[in-house]
Amino acid sequence: MSGLKVDAIRIRDHVQRLGERYPPIDLASADYSLNNGAYPQGADANIDTTTTTTTTGEVPPATPDLGPVPVRVRILGAVAHLPFVHEVIRLLYYLTGAATEKAAMIAYQSMSDGLKEMGETAVQRTIVDAIKVQEPGHFAFYRLSALEMVQAGALASWQLYLARVLRSRRFSLVGAKTEEQRTDYGGVIVNLGLDAEIERSVRDIVRVETQLLWAHRNGLNVPSYALKAFREAADQYRGRTQLQAA
Ligand SMILES: [Fe+2]
Repeated sequence: MSGLKVDAIRIRDHVQRLGERYPPIDLASADYSLNNGAYPQGADANIDTTTTTTTTGEVPPATPDLGPVPVRVRILGAVAHLPFVHEVIRLLYYLTGAATEKAAMIAYQSMSDGLKEMGETAVQRTIVDAIKVQEPGHFAFYRLSALEMVQAGALASWQLYLARVLRSRRFSLVGAKTEEQRTDYGGVIVNLGLDAEIERSVRDIVRVETQLLWAHRNGLNVPSYALKAFREAADQYRGRTQLQAA
């Protein structure tokens, strides 16, 4: 683990600096113009939506997830007011945040590279890169917050054990609760070319929890539950694509 010493003041200063350095992006600063206005329409509805967004500048309305609250969330909700559980949940929240922001960093980088290759530098610079530069700061917030908890000794060893158990059994890709959402997530992994080096990508994405939760397993490269979740999503997507092509 790095020798970085973290406390609450350091985290607060970091958040303040983020706000000053990256005020909300002005929509008027986005340049939607494309060099090639005739990209083929994809068979996939998602590609269609993206194309529409890019060319008209209108963001399609999001569909709210009104599905039932999973049992595990209800159980956690029921015990969450107990201080010792609260700390475990807070740590897991930060670890999930760190993994999500790191995944966003990797995804935006790969989108930026792709757009550059296509010569679409207006969209690349004014939209993707404008968002991309904000992500490392978000990632740092979650990483610092998790580090601070562990360094301050906020969790007893049995709480860290509980965090490991919950994480190993319940690791899920953020925003992907149903089979279909998981398959879509796999589509992002495959289409951004991340599955070619999936082990390296996942290792980067979950590095904070590898270091904080699994420090006692010296030299553990990547927790197997995380690698499995990403691999399965990518496999499911490839399976669906093959079915559709057949
Ligand atoms: Fe972010």
